[in-house]
Amino acid sequence: MSTWTAAEMPDQTGRTVVVTGANTGLGKEAARAFTAKGADVVLACRSEAKARDAKADIEADGPDGSLTVLELDLADLDSVRAFADAFTDAFDDLHVLANNAGVMAIPRRETADGFETQFGVNHLGHFALTGLLLDALRATGTGADPARVVTMSSGVHERGRIDFDDLHGERSYDKWDAYAQSKLANLLFAYELDRRLEAAGAPVESLAAHPGYAATDLQRRGPEMMGSTLRTVGMRLANAVLAQPAEQGVLPYLYAATMPDASGGEYYGPGGLANMRGAPERQRSSKRSYEEGTAYRLWSVSEEQTGVGYDLPDPRASDGSSAADATDVSADD
Ligand SMILES: NC(=O)c1ccc[n+]([C@@H]2O[C@H](COP(=O)([O-])OP(=O)(O)OC[C@H]3O[C@@H](n4cnc5c(N)ncnc54)[C@H](OP(=O)(O)O)[C@@H]3O)[C@@H](O)[C@H]2O)c1
Repeated sequence: MSTWTAAEMPDQTGRTVVVTGANTGLGKEAARAFTAKGADVVLACRSEAKARDAKADIEADGPDGSLTVLELDLADLDSVRAFADAFTDAFDDLHVLANNAGVMAIPRRETADGFETQFGVNHLGHFALTGLLLDALRATGTGADPARVVTMSSGVHERGRIDFDDLHGERSYDKWDAYAQSKLANLLFAYELDRRLEAAGAPVESLAAHPGYAATDLQRRGPEMMGSTLRTVGMRLANAVLAQPAEQGVLPYLYAATMPDASGGEYYGPGGLANMRGAPERQRSSKRSYEEGTAYRLWSVSEEQTGVGYDLPDPRASDGSSAADATDVSADD
């Protein structure tokens, strides 16, 4: 796996892929790689104009696949629902749902539904989107070729804690803690979803990935929102010196989304220097990210807050342990 590149992705002809946040950065490079291999890619973006620019840029490569723009604002559950309706009206299949979009270390803001924006966009928006597209994924996957949900996390998840008493940072807010919480939530969700899909015998797998450190727009949004020129310049310099290009950073994600030897519940990241760069490899995420009790509790809270329920059984019901047991495990958080 150590020299793997996007050229080694299997042929994607006839496959439908939804990429959130596909107008720039890692999402755009994912969309480029998928269409180069023949996939029909939906650019799920909050700005239609930016998505159209990205579409034109990727089309200039002369890809084999097709690109469709559909509006999706993950900071607004009405938009998430409208996207899911528009997608299911227009497409019959969904082979890969690429939960990629994100914001990092921004000053405290709220989404249309009153969620802290990093938790709301990075986790809750994707939680709702996945639930609303689950029927399409289930109808598309087969035992031999399961559909995949691949959720983008970050190495920063390692410092994350799920603060169930103040999920939205209303009492105290630190922009990096909120980002880390959202990226830990991405992993807890990805693994819990996989457990539930398996318990249901559904032909869908859920995986996760992280890009290491890749030069994208992500690092400049926070400093820009704070109006800090010094931090903006600092982030630009760090990107120029330390980061790998987006087309390299997206490789672990593409591996997780397409390779036959990748399977549900796995996590992929770059295997080079401090897992910040390099070719994709399978990795372990933090101990906390595998805590089933925390995952169970987060799942329940996410269903409640988004109003999107999943028609999937609690995997613990079949092994004799109860939801209450699972919830107890999270008492440390
Ligand atoms: N770059 C890295 O080093 C790095 C490291 C670890 C993890 N990641 C993760 O990788 C993912 C992609 O980030 P990136 O580096 O490619 O950053 P990016 O260049 O800033 O791209 C982020 C994408 O998310 C979209 N987005 C933001 N808010 C949204 C919303 N409310 N609704 C829909 N889309 C929204 C952005 O749209 P606009 O252009 O309209 O803002 C953009 O398309 C994120 O989940 C991030 O946490 C990145």
